[in-house]
Amino acid sequence: MAIIKLENVNKYFDSFHAVKDVSLEVRKGETLVFLGSSGSGKTTVLKMINRLVELSSGVIEVEGVNILELDPIRLRRSLGYVIQSIGLFPHMTIEENVSLVPRLTGWSDSERRERAVEVLELIGLDPAEFRHRYPDELSGGQQQRIGVARALAADPKMLLMDEPFGALDAVTRENLQQELIGIKERLQKTIIFVTHDIFEAFTLADRIAVMHQGRLEQIGSRDEIIASPATEFVEELLASPKKHLREFQGAP
Ligand SMILES: Nc1ncnc2c1ncn2[C@@H]1O[C@H](COP(=O)(O)OP(=O)(O)OP(=O)(O)O)[C@@H](O)[C@H]1O
Ligand SMILES: [Mg+2]
Repeated sequence: MAIIKLENVNKYFDSFHAVKDVSLEVRKGETLVFLGSSGSGKTTVLKMINRLVELSSGVIEVEGVNILELDPIRLRRSLGYVIQSIGLFPHMTIEENVSLVPRLTGWSDSERRERAVEVLELIGLDPAEFRHRYPDELSGGQQQRIGVARALAADPKMLLMDEPFGALDAVTRENLQQELIGIKERLQKTIIFVTHDIFEAFTLADRIAVMHQGRLEQIGSRDEIIASPATEFVEELLASPKKHLREFQGAP
């Protein structure tokens, strides 16, 4: 079942055509990874789904309802969002950062505190140690974990994650990828995940949507894409890491 549907979606910034006629469906419970180079329109697509950017033409539906018919603020709160630059509020403690959406949606103090402890444990940071710290008292990787915790706090059905593990060393990144897989299995969330890293895409995705210069080049599982790349761009994308790819698939 499609939980999110894009139909012929376009975005123009003035005369610049940033997203070109993109149609796709996100299935309930899947992790769909948008993979593409810098400037290919990945962030713009995410932001159109939660209406941080208004689409120029086409239709986006969330759970069968055209998003233009939904209150943008309520829509945004129903979609947990991990933004590309983490975006923690520096003057708020970790607990306050994590509790932001629950506070805005009227949870009581004790409910918020309980939930903050829960999500901090979920992302592997000791609540007793971290909840009263400020973001600049955390490492980059810990801050990114908090970004994920904040997106999970109000228990949204769907998570939109924009390069949440960018700018991390390889080891921390792999740890967080594995944790995300665990979280997803436990919580059964639908996840839309953006990356420019093909291995990250292969690790996390049920299906991959390859973007290039604003176009959706191909959508499919890792194996489908490897078996039959739909365009020259996808072929090139796969060609460079082919050796690693074989290792990744465990082939000799
Ligand atoms: N507010 C804006 N005004 C004008 N152009 C914009 C705006 N936002 C994005 N663009 C342009 O639209 C294109 C797509 O941008 P987008 O941020 O979606 O790319 P991206 O795939 O997320 O790239 P990256 O991997 O670097 O984050 C880029 O060429 C960008 O310069
Ligand atoms: Mg981006």
